[in-house]
Amino acid sequence: MGHWGPFSLHDKNAVVTGGAMGIGRGIAERLAEAGANVLIADMNGDTAKATADEITQKGGGRATALQLDCTDSCAGEEIVKACVGEFGSIDILVNNAGIYPQVPMLQMEEALWDKVMAINLKGLAFIAKAVAAKMIEQGKGGKIVNIASIDGLHPSMVGLAAYDASKGGVVMFTKNFALEMGPHHIQVNAIAPGGINTEGTAAPLEGSGMTEEEMKAMMDAFKARIPAGRMGVPDDIGKVAAFLASAGSDYMTGEIVVVDGGMLLS
Ligand SMILES: NC(=O)c1ccc[n+]([C@@H]2O[C@H](COP(=O)([O-])OP(=O)(O)OC[C@H]3O[C@@H](n4cnc5c(N)ncnc54)[C@H](O)[C@@H]3O)[C@@H](O)[C@H]2O)c1
Repeated sequence: MGHWGPFSLHDKNAVVTGGAMGIGRGIAERLAEAGANVLIADMNGDTAKATADEITQKGGGRATALQLDCTDSCAGEEIVKACVGEFGSIDILVNNAGIYPQVPMLQMEEALWDKVMAINLKGLAFIAKAVAAKMIEQGKGGKIVNIASIDGLHPSMVGLAAYDASKGGVVMFTKNFALEMGPHHIQVNAIAPGGINTEGTAAPLEGSGMTEEEMKAMMDAFKARIPAGRMGVPDDIGKVAAFLASAGSDYMTGEIVVVDGGMLLS
């Protein structure tokens, strides 16, 4: 892994939540390529295992899977136990698992609001808490990368009020937790992706009430607002996550890195 220089993750052990597919998979692939061993913690156990096997076969770091729901109150402890048990320590956490149901607020049910918050914000915060506690005990610092969204900075479309509130929460959680973790040499940063083509964005927008045609028109209008002229791919986020997980970003903390092909500028 010598060619990765200060960005090498050789001898590092990482966890990626929601890493079975989509952006999380893109991140897990790049972390392993940079030399890290990667635990993929995902509620979809079969896909997580298949992804982990494919990553291990490619060379670089070793990957393994843990089936878990990030909203379980013991998810953080389970992640720590599995990563330390499998690899010996936990050095990097990428908090990526998240959902983005598109439902206008006037149609929003309390249960769906709570679910969005439970996965996107509360689960992320308490997993960070458990992992950070272990990193402090290990005494060699660490890296926490939270996946926020450009929607945590500026709304992109109607129907994402709950989502945008949850990701705005991720942005401010990242900044305050970075402050708390500074003395422990744990850097806490976030990535705010723009529109990234994933399994999740390809799925019909359940509950949106939109027809396929309306959905296509919405996506075309969305794409037209991206100065880079294309939607992102998971690897666009994977490469930035690998940087934030590496010594290359040691003097950055509490930062929100926008990776959106320039969309927020338009
Ligand atoms: N795709 C985009 O355009 C985009 C843009 C900005 C931010 N994001 C954020 O990036 C992250 C990943 O998005 P994606 O498009 O890759 O999603 P995706 O739906 O394609 O994949 C999400 C993965 O997370 C897992 N997951 C979901 N809920 C979970 C839970 N409770 N516990 C454990 N695992 C769970 C799923 O099984 C799946 O493997 C999310 O936090 C999302 O909000 C995505």
